[in-house]
Amino acid sequence: MEQVKIAPSMLCADFRRLEEEVAALSAAGVDWLHFDCMDGQFVDNLTYGPLVLEALREGCELYFDAHLMMLNPGRHLRAFANAGADGICIHRETVSGPAGLLDKIKGMGCQAGLAFNPATPLEGLEAIIEYCDYVLLMSVEPGYAGQRFMPGVLKRIEQVRKLIDRAGLDTLIQVDGGITAETARQVIAAGANVLVSGSFFFGHPEGYRAAAEALRGAAQ
Ligand code: DX5
Ligand code: ZN
Repeated sequence: MEQVKIAPSMLCADFRRLEEEVAALSAAGVDWLHFDCMDGQFVDNLTYGPLVLEALREGCELYFDAHLMMLNPGRHLRAFANAGADGICIHRETVSGPAGLLDKIKGMGCQAGLAFNPATPLEGLEAIIEYCDYVLLMSVEPGYAGQRFMPGVLKRIEQVRKLIDRAGLDTLIQVDGGITAETARQVIAAGANVLVSGSFFFGHPEGYRAAAEALRGAAQ
């Protein structure tokens, strides 16, 4: 199986020194930068939008992953694509039929992700799995970093893994919320291959490289 991808959540970066943070993350060998874009409506918290991605894009080769926790995500796709997002992920709860928007994302030259809150049923995913480059399964309620991992996601990862394998696709499974070296081991065993990590990663006492290694090591 291909190596897991490590995606630090920029929500936990030091906002006073974002440029240095991005350089340090690149040097630490991470794969994706995960940007939590929250609108204060779909979730309580309010964070940042495409301008921040655009400002960091220049000089950074890492994959930019925009996790859109917002109502009416369709209104903002073009702005995120223009800002240099490589992947744009919309929430299943915010759209009645996601296929059209997922298609639109791809038409803008980006990869398309579809995110599910912990309690959102996965039924119907099979019919639209071909439209997804990645499926994001939330392992906390979205809105804030630093919450506890909800183990109920493990069964959901297994379910989506089966569905993807059955369809013969290489769709990625991303997990977001409460990921540590220990929970990373569990989600990888269940079939996930993109790990978002905020508090654990940025709070690692030995730094970013050690944090990335700890998460990668969980695959062994
Ligand atoms: C939660 C965000 C996550 C979060 C991850 O709404 O989508 O990306 O910041 O942080 P930790 O790893 O601390 O749960
Ligand atoms: Zn996120």
